[in-house]
Amino acid sequence: MNLKVQQLAKLPGYSITLLFLPFFLSCTLSNIYVQSVANNIVSEIIFNNGIPEKFEELEEPAEDIHKIRALIVLANSKLPQSISRNIIEHLENSRDFIDELFVITAQEHSLWRLVDKNHSLDSDFFPDDIVPLRSKSNSYLVNWPDLSLRSLAEVPLDEMAVAARKDGIILGVTSGFRTYTHQAESFARRVRTMGLATAEMLSARAGHSQHQLGLVVDFGCLTNAFARTPEYAWLAANASRFGFSLSYPRGYEQVTGYNWESWHYRYVGLELVAFIEKYFDGIQQYALEFIHDFVNL
Ligand code: DAL
Ligand code: ZN
Repeated sequence: MNLKVQQLAKLPGYSITLLFLPFFLSCTLSNIYVQSVANNIVSEIIFNNGIPEKFEELEEPAEDIHKIRALIVLANSKLPQSISRNIIEHLENSRDFIDELFVITAQEHSLWRLVDKNHSLDSDFFPDDIVPLRSKSNSYLVNWPDLSLRSLAEVPLDEMAVAARKDGIILGVTSGFRTYTHQAESFARRVRTMGLATAEMLSARAGHSQHQLGLVVDFGCLTNAFARTPEYAWLAANASRFGFSLSYPRGYEQVTGYNWESWHYRYVGLELVAFIEKYFDGIQQYALEFIHDFVNL
């Protein structure tokens, strides 16, 4: 990069970020290899495109611009180094990561929407394809009255439960879609019975629950005794084949903000579940945060 001082002075904030990206990455990742890869990508983009003022103003190859966006997100993320490094290697060697990312973000927002302690849904967020759940003799059982789910998730749930039955496993659904009001009551009840600090680790505040998306299924007894059942083992091995991803895995309490929930599966679709496994070590929260930051950059 041969930039003159005058050119630098004229650069808007974004381009400054771009120019110093290799430095940011090296600080974040402290890895010479990563720094040199980032340098190569940045140099090539500037060579091909000049210094961009905004992403939108850039001409072809747009692919490179998205690589830069991904690098900037990585530079600012708290992802483990091994995950960032792996993604950077993919960015350098192929266009798969960006292509796969765009396939996902072209899908319905609810499939990849980040809903967590810091990102919420409005109180009137209410999906329009909610269907009641009823036990089916060849598929899942419903353990609780008045459960419902978006049909977008019920169809793969049904397929998954039919496949489980063939392996001798009966999946029991204990919770599905929850409204904002339902979640508010549930959180308040936990606070009353357990105190705020414990409640915060077990239950989402109203607007912050993935259940409000209508794409989440809680299986079994809703304690981690579930992890000792054959249903748990079957889901751990097979749920991804049907587009379901465990939201709150063991050992990632600091990342998700919640205790391990061996029973809480979110339907994210086949493409996103594969993306989570291929690039984010199977950790849904990492992938959803990355996508959120990428789209909002
Ligand atoms: N138990 C999860 C965190 C929820 O309340 O959505
Ligand atoms: Zn749940």
